[in-house]
Amino acid sequence: MAAPENYTKVLQESQDVFHRFPLHLVHGIPLMEPIAQQWGPIENFQARPDDLLISTYPKAGTTWMQEIVDLILVQGDVEKACRAPTHIRIPFLEICSPPLVPSGVQQLANVPSPRVIKTHLPFQLVPKSFWENRCKARDPNPVPNSSKFFFYLILSLGRHNVKSYENYQRFIYTTRPKGPLILLPHQDPAREIRRVMDFLEVELPPQVLEKIVQQTSFQIMKENPMANYSSIPSTILDQTVSPFMRKGQVGDWKNHFTVAQSEAFDAHYQRRMEGTGLHFRTQI
Ligand code: A3P
Repeated sequence: MAAPENYTKVLQESQDVFHRFPLHLVHGIPLMEPIAQQWGPIENFQARPDDLLISTYPKAGTTWMQEIVDLILVQGDVEKACRAPTHIRIPFLEICSPPLVPSGVQQLANVPSPRVIKTHLPFQLVPKSFWENRCKARDPNPVPNSSKFFFYLILSLGRHNVKSYENYQRFIYTTRPKGPLILLPHQDPAREIRRVMDFLEVELPPQVLEKIVQQTSFQIMKENPMANYSSIPSTILDQTVSPFMRKGQVGDWKNHFTVAQSEAFDAHYQRRMEGTGLHFRTQI
């Protein structure tokens, strides 16, 4: 496994951007201060064999995936899926909110099995108990597909399920806090949702699948208070600056990157993705 690049430099450069939550190195990886300060309980988190882990790079369509998974697990029952906001239904493992608000670890201790958990931790920081529990699983096959524990990396709205740990790991290394959102087409949500259903080994009739497609469309999720993060106080997530459900469009980076930024990214991307065998589209 290649050593991470010079994270210290990343750390210094990011101090300005993350002035509110400065970054601290944890096992060589920069994490936001509140998370780094609570690293012990996160590292020692006790996974259960039937936990389901949604592990994504931030801004890659995590919330969208959470909504899909939850709707599949409640068999398309929209009322049940609206029982609570996303972060309550599917707690965020490493989140450490301001005092008095329970951390992800505290929250998860009270969630009955089977739990669905979100994480943005890079591969090498995922608590060991996930691996240990997985090892106890009946199927020793190293392909994560066969286990309830999985890494499902959605790159920009669900186009790619990177099944290889190695590729996942390499991808994590190839991206940086400053990396752009790589948007890929979402032309056939039903097909993608079916792939998730296959993974979860859940079968649903076509009309239920259709309902899930509708309920997880950008417009519906944008207006759904249980999916659009409007329940998070503005002191934590100020949606007047930018709504969480912002545009959901492929290729919007073009409206924000300068030519120079775009060229710099392309060069960086080529260098870091070389040999991974992964090919992504950044516009339709
Ligand atoms: P934009 O900022 O480009 O709109 P994450 O949940 O990992 O933080 O990802 C957030 C991004 O996913 C946002 O992208 C958000 O709009 C987009 N997104 C969330 N749900 C979506 C959906 N149902 N359809 C399309 N895009 C969605």
